[in-house]
Formats: sequence, structure tokens, C-alpha cells
Amino acid sequence: MTFLGQGVGFGKVILFNEHFVVYGIPAVVSAIGAKTTATVERKLGSGYELRDERSETPGYKAEKLQQQKESLDIMLKFMNIDARHNHYVITLRGDLIAASGVGASAASCAAIARGFSDELKLDFSDERVNDVAYEGEKGYHGTPSGIDNTAATYGGLIWYRREGSAQLMERMRLRKPVEIVMGNTGKVADTKVIVAGVKERKEEEPEKYGRLFQDADLLVRNARKQLEDFNLEEVGSYMNENHRLLQEIGVSSPELDVLVKVARDAGAPGAKLTGTGRGGYMVALTPGRDLQNHVAEEIERHGSQVVRTVIGI
Ligand code: MEV
Repeated sequence: MTFLGQGVGFGKVILFNEHFVVYGIPAVVSAIGAKTTATVERKLGSGYELRDERSETPGYKAEKLQQQKESLDIMLKFMNIDARHNHYVITLRGDLIAASGVGASAASCAAIARGFSDELKLDFSDERVNDVAYEGEKGYHGTPSGIDNTAATYGGLIWYRREGSAQLMERMRLRKPVEIVMGNTGKVADTKVIVAGVKERKEEEPEKYGRLFQDADLLVRNARKQLEDFNLEEVGSYMNENHRLLQEIGVSSPELDVLVKVARDAGAPGAKLTGTGRGGYMVALTPGRDLQNHVAEEIERHGSQVVRTVIGI
């Protein structure tokens, strides 16, 4: 006889302040329409196996395999799941592409936590799911800020800040959902390595980085006000400025810069890299279906895969 538990985790887009958020600067993140699902099947035997059936940016799954194993080991231990007397088959699926920049690892961690909770009747609250997913993210990020697992667990539009070990979130509301386009560079990025690179450069050039971090702090507070007042042109300008700050801390790439330019040239009021950077996705604000389609088509003409979705649901 086998049993089957199911869980879900949301994909995400960081609208402001990835990387800065690792150091306690506030950031804005939104869940996107796409999700990862996990089923957990309990069978006779011992140990566990992971079947990853998500579609992917070519090479993503192979490159992340070791980190995925590490992440799963950490989560099972944290959840006190004993795989000596049961054999678990964990299967990942869903419409969120396994790629850098969309919160794929966090979505899978939240989905797995919920899958085990369902299967073993553990009755995890969202807070508990978030804690498990945060531990799981350590396998991928080293020192995660917690923004990705928070978005993956709760969904919606979130103002996020880390204070010491506390993960502080506030829900934000938009007057109505706004269309965005995400463009994929097709390059896989290693969050652990890129976050470590920022730390190194920050230590080497404390004054320059101090200024940039102050600018990022001020920027996100202004951007929040414009988002809540629904001044989308202004929001777009702040996204452009945020991209410049991210370039300055060394996390953009020529591929990301090209797609950002394509989106702006096609009429997007704002575009920036999103998530880890160096590869993965960029995001463009594209209010209205017509602009969204136009920007998406221009990015596709550049040979990049796109996601058309909305923020603020
Ligand atoms: C990755 O999606 C976001 C980063 O800021 C890392 C983190 O916050 O843990 C780059």
C-alpha cells in the first residue's frame, strides 16, 4: 500500500533590492502565477528518492543536483523525518520552469515541506512551512536572506526585511494587478557564489558599497510609495535605477543588460535583472496587455524564452 501527500510553492519575482536584502535593506517581492508542486509517496523500505519532472532551462537541474540533495537532507533532518523505516518518493512538477531568478529552489522547498506535512498529517502552519523552506534554501544559497522562501510560502506582494535572524514581512496591496514580462537569459546562476562575490567586493570597497547600499535603502522606500499610489511610470524609473545599482555591485551581465534594453526600447517604463543575476531572468514592468505582448514579442525575437504574468494578485 502507498500513501500520497501533496504540496505547492509559488514562483517569485524580486521587484526591488535583491542582494541588498541579504544585508537587512528592505526589498519588494511578488509571487508570480507559476508554481511548483511536490507529491510525497510513502512506500515500504527505507531512504528516499527525488524525481524532478519540472521543465527547465537546459542544464539547470544537472547543475543544481548536488545542492538539491544537500537541501533535501537539511529539510528532512529539520522536519525530523525518519527515512529508515519508510521509503519516500518525492516528485516535483508544476508550471514554474526550473531556472535561475524565478525562485525555483524556494518554490520546490515550500512544496516539499507541504508535501510531507500532508502525507504525514503534520499539520504544518504557513510559518512552519516557511521555516522548513528557509532551512532548505541554505543548501542552495549558503546564507539566504529568506525573501525567496517567504514569497514561495505565502504568495502575494510582499515588503520584506531581514533583521538579525528575524524574517519580517508586510503584505502590500496594489490598486489592481499589473502585467509584467520576464525574459530568460538561458544561463544558470549559482546564488551561493554570486552572493559570496558581493560580500567580498563589499569588504574590499566599504565606502563605495556603503553609498550604494544607502541609495538602495532610500530607493526602495520611495518605490514602495509609488507602487502603493499606483504611479507606474515612477515605479518603472525606480526599477531602472535599481538595475543600475545592481550593475554597480557587479551582479548583472551583458546578456541581462541586452534584454533590459530591449524591454525599455519596446516601451516598458522599467526593466531590471531579477533574483541572483549574472544569468537567469530579467523583469520588465508592462502595464496593459498590449504593451505586455509587444515587450514579450521583442524579447522573444532576441531568442529568449519569456514568462507573461502579473504582480499584485
Ligand atoms: C535570490 O533570489 C535573492 C538574493 O538576494 C539572495 C537572497 O536574498 O538570499 C540574491
